[in-house]
Amino acid sequence: MRFCLLPGDGIGPEVIREGVRALKAVGEIFGHAFEFQEALIGGCAIDATGSALPQATVDACRSSQAVLLGAVGGPKWSDPGASVRPEQGLLELRREFGLFANLRPVRTSPSLSGLSPLKEEIARDTDILFVRELTGGLYFGARQETENGSAWDTLIYSEAEVERVARVAFVAARGRKKKVTSIDKANVLASSRLWRTTVERVAQDYPEVKLEHVLVDAATMHLLTRPRSFDVILAGNLFGDILSDEASVLAGSLGMLPSASLNESKFGVYEPVHGSAPDIAGKGIANPVGMLYSCAMALRHSLGLEKEASALEQAVEATLKAGARTADLSSENSLSTEAFADKVLEALRRTSPVLKV
Ligand code: NAD
Ligand code: IPM
Ligand code: MN
Repeated sequence: MRFCLLPGDGIGPEVIREGVRALKAVGEIFGHAFEFQEALIGGCAIDATGSALPQATVDACRSSQAVLLGAVGGPKWSDPGASVRPEQGLLELRREFGLFANLRPVRTSPSLSGLSPLKEEIARDTDILFVRELTGGLYFGARQETENGSAWDTLIYSEAEVERVARVAFVAARGRKKKVTSIDKANVLASSRLWRTTVERVAQDYPEVKLEHVLVDAATMHLLTRPRSFDVILAGNLFGDILSDEASVLAGSLGMLPSASLNESKFGVYEPVHGSAPDIAGKGIANPVGMLYSCAMALRHSLGLEKEASALEQAVEATLKAGARTADLSSENSLSTEAFADKVLEALRRTSPVLKV
């Protein structure tokens, strides 16, 4: 079972290090031999090779069952005039492997709702699964950066693109609270009207799932006023990007959220929702939870190791329940990235059965 590691930039290497330690511990406890190979992506790849996604990285991903990605980008590569940007590496990776379905779960378990800056009675018991379309829409349409002092981007969706990601949302909802909220801006955008009619057509194949449509501007407000009313939120590439960062407030911090980017096979790219966090990079204080939960998603979706995935999730949850906090969650007595992960490993070893003979 081979993982490809793409640490990337900023806090990417800091959180991925802890993800690897956790996976090695899971391997020891449950008797699996995980292999890891590392490759370059993003700004560090540009510095070393001139490309944000070198061919050697694509090859390394292809020979792995799952890819763990830290984060890309940072001020060093942010010059608007630059010909190549770290973020292109990420977009290329998604395109190369056809990773059209991006799953971003957002949860607050009862004992952890105090982590959110929102009132506890609002954030409590949130359990939302974002299904974000990841290889189309505004991110992948034609664009022209300058044209006589103007610039344009194109937002195109085909029925086929909407349909396949909508099916992922309905199938997920069937195994959850049986509700899909589809996000669009159908009162203005033609692509959103196609989105809406296509989702309605797909919904007919899932009669047990309730479908509601919410305009994206209203959705930003409902997310923070009635988060418990959502189950699966289905959104296009840009709206899903924005709403999932907003929803991180419900879980306490952007550092808490994991993601899985999937195609039709078992292969996937697993990464925290957050970016390279240049403001805290190098300080050893990044929250590793989003990365650790992403590792659990990799165990579950790409390796089929459900027991191992939930053991890791439970160890993270137990660590938070016991009061361990990184600096983004608490201004007092906060732990470093490594010290927090140490506690997760202790919890993992304490609560998981030793299966080795
Ligand atoms: P960011 O997500 O990096 O940071 C936003 C804020 O959240 C910052 O204050 C940061 O300190 C905090 N934060 C993020 N992750 C954290 C963690 N694990 N622990 C504690 N605090 C955390 O977003 P940004 O600052 O807008 O972007 C920085 C760079 O990252 C940009 O170049 C952007 O393009 C890139 N980016 C990359 C990815 C990715 O690789 N998947 C995702 C988002 C942004
Ligand atoms: C994310 C990031 C990326 C996106 C950027 C870095 C290209 O924000 O993974 O959410 O917008 O998809
Ligand atoms: Mn984002």
